[in-house]
Amino acid sequence: MQNFQFCIPTNILFGKGQMEHLPEIVGAYGKNVLLTYGGSSMKKTGLYDKIKELLSGWEIYEVSGIASNPLIDSVREGIRICREHQVNVILAVGGGSVIDCSKAIAAGCFYDGDPWEMITSHAEIKEALPIIAIPTIAATGSEADAGAVIRNPETGEKLSLFSPLLYPKHAIMDPVNTFTVPANQAAAGSADILSHLMEQYFVPESTFLSDLLVESVMKTVIHYAPIAVQEPDNYEARAQLMWAGTIADNATLCNGNQLVAFSCHGIEHELSGTFNTTHGVGLAIITPRWMRYILSEKTEKRFAHLGRAVWGITEEDDRQAAEAMIGELEDFFKSLGIPSTLTELGIDSSKFEEMAEHGVETEGLRYTWIPMEKEDVINILNQCL
Ligand code: NZQ
Ligand code: ZN
Repeated sequence: MQNFQFCIPTNILFGKGQMEHLPEIVGAYGKNVLLTYGGSSMKKTGLYDKIKELLSGWEIYEVSGIASNPLIDSVREGIRICREHQVNVILAVGGGSVIDCSKAIAAGCFYDGDPWEMITSHAEIKEALPIIAIPTIAATGSEADAGAVIRNPETGEKLSLFSPLLYPKHAIMDPVNTFTVPANQAAAGSADILSHLMEQYFVPESTFLSDLLVESVMKTVIHYAPIAVQEPDNYEARAQLMWAGTIADNATLCNGNQLVAFSCHGIEHELSGTFNTTHGVGLAIITPRWMRYILSEKTEKRFAHLGRAVWGITEEDDRQAAEAMIGELEDFFKSLGIPSTLTELGIDSSKFEEMAEHGVETEGLRYTWIPMEKEDVINILNQCL
């Protein structure tokens, strides 16, 4: 078991009615609030009106229309507003894209330069505005982690930003706020959660305890994702997925593992950076192909272990159990209605070479469980067509 430091400073209020605590939480930070949100969902669901009512005594400034795969221009806009109005706290309401954008705004406010330069130069973040997150979809876990991923369409890049200062101070998580998430996004979010779990499971060294924790959360997602897709207002399914998403990506389950760079995420960020694909859809397409590509004597035992523990595979031969597990995973994603090829998304191979080169340089793909070079990434992407 590896040494680790573990501190998740986010105060989480989970469950029905927790929104009522919003005024007392925001009140601790000051009167000027930057409200950040995405497209039309927040207004359609009534959440916007509810927040405005709860915070009627506050000065609210807004950054709206934050895109999936959030754009650096929204970050720039947020920084400008925060500086102009001396914003005290950012209230991020939406999915991972909104929360990530808010984290970049929070840090960018104190960065002397363009925020894209802050991200590309890995500038040390010394100060950030406090963030309160109200997640509305079960997916990334951004509401209680220290990372953000931002896209720059001018360069075709999507890059990450990390700092312990970027953990939201509070996350108000009411599963009811996810009832309106459409089936395709619920499926993509579930695929993302599963991917976070697998990325921390397929590592050079894991522990007995973390294996069991990850396996239970995977089983939870596999059980509840189809229910959430079919019964959007099933509270238990939405709640289980929401909490699974939060704990899947902030080391809660994997402390003690030898954690390394994420393989499929590294490839996917190239896809969504270049083609603006939905993160979870990209992962669902890439993951089974990546597994088949690296299937060998070195990896089959671990894949088989997952197959037996999570998918109930009884096959004794490791290679066959591993292949069966990959098939189960692929079928599961299909059963959720997720496209299974890049061709279905209208993507061809013309940009694969530059994506692979960039991914190896910026996503740490040489430092994953099974290290990858440019050719490996191109081969995997070609198999996704
Ligand atoms: O924009 P609106 O209208 O709100 O619609 C959104 C969007 O179209 C919709 N949605 C969200 N909540 C809804 C809802 N629609 C109806 N009812 C609701 N309650 O869902 C769509 C997707 O939203 P988005 O925020 O893009 O999804 P997600 O949470 O999956 O975030 C994806 C982004 O997070 C990054 C991804 O790369 C991608 O950019 N990631 C962030 C991570 C992190 N910070 O730790 C880790 C992840 O691995 C990931 O890379
Ligand atoms: Zn992810």
